[in-house]
Amino acid sequence: MENTQNKRPFLKVADVSKSFGEVRVLDGLNLELAGGEILGVIGPSGGGKTTLLRCLDLLEPFDAGTIEYATLDAKALPNGRISKGSGEDGGEATTVALRQQIGFVFQTFNLWGDRTVLQNLTLAPCVVKRTDRAEAEAIAERLLAKFGLSEKRENRIWQLSGGQRQRVAIIRALMMEPQILLCDEVTSALDPVLAYDVLQMIKALSEEGLTMIVVTHHVDFAATLCDRIAYLNDGAIQQIDTPERIIKSPRNEEIANFLNILRVAG
Ligand SMILES: Nc1ncnc2c1ncn2[C@@H]1O[C@H](COP(=O)(O)OP(=O)(O)OP(=O)(O)O)[C@@H](O)[C@H]1O
Ligand SMILES: [Mg+2]
Repeated sequence: MENTQNKRPFLKVADVSKSFGEVRVLDGLNLELAGGEILGVIGPSGGGKTTLLRCLDLLEPFDAGTIEYATLDAKALPNGRISKGSGEDGGEATTVALRQQIGFVFQTFNLWGDRTVLQNLTLAPCVVKRTDRAEAEAIAERLLAKFGLSEKRENRIWQLSGGQRQRVAIIRALMMEPQILLCDEVTSALDPVLAYDVLQMIKALSEEGLTMIVVTHHVDFAATLCDRIAYLNDGAIQQIDTPERIIKSPRNEEIANFLNILRVAG
């Protein structure tokens, strides 16, 4: 039993398609991720990176295919339906339970600007997980200390720098103790100095063994962080390889050109 479990990938995306009207954004996309793996996702604007993450977080119903999380014992089906490991239709409760295990960090933070850092961090655990407030605050204090933000605990979000806001947004995702963290261009709204702090935080989390998918334009950083990098365009992963191989041997001219542009821009 244990052996079979170990052989299953943590995440298996099989033939997932998603259209917005006439535009087919994901077109039979396949992806497998091992537990503890860090996957970087790169690709041109409009290529479907955010859509993929939103489908993985069950924020966006897809049209065909399946998304299976082995350790969460649930499979997402087209049109927002979830099937539990036993094969039955999981319904709304399973969707909520599954989404609690998946942390999502957005480019634009999505924090409550006029509430304090502690309020932002404890809201979801208290409301969704029904964690006791004192316990949620203790977890928040521990994470704030770990990432050097303890003295900001009572500050309102609007009083923080962009980099601090993004670090709080990552901590907010960690508060739910996710099994996987999805990061969507978490540094693209930041200048390079602030981005550095956020990237260091992501690196620290990767070293702790958290499974992550990181959409990024920082290709050099992705190369040091990620086990593999996927190039996404035209609805599918065009190449997925170790950072070294994708950088040294891009599969075609389009990928080679894209990597050059990232390099110059970064
Ligand atoms: N809610 C939506 N309604 C209609 N079209 C959408 C919606 N969300 C995304 N799209 C379209 O799907 C395509 C892929 O968008 P997506 O945001 O996934 O790209 P991306 O790779 O994340 O791009 P970027 O690098 O600019 O963030 C685009 O053509 C976009 O206009
Ligand atoms: Mg995007």
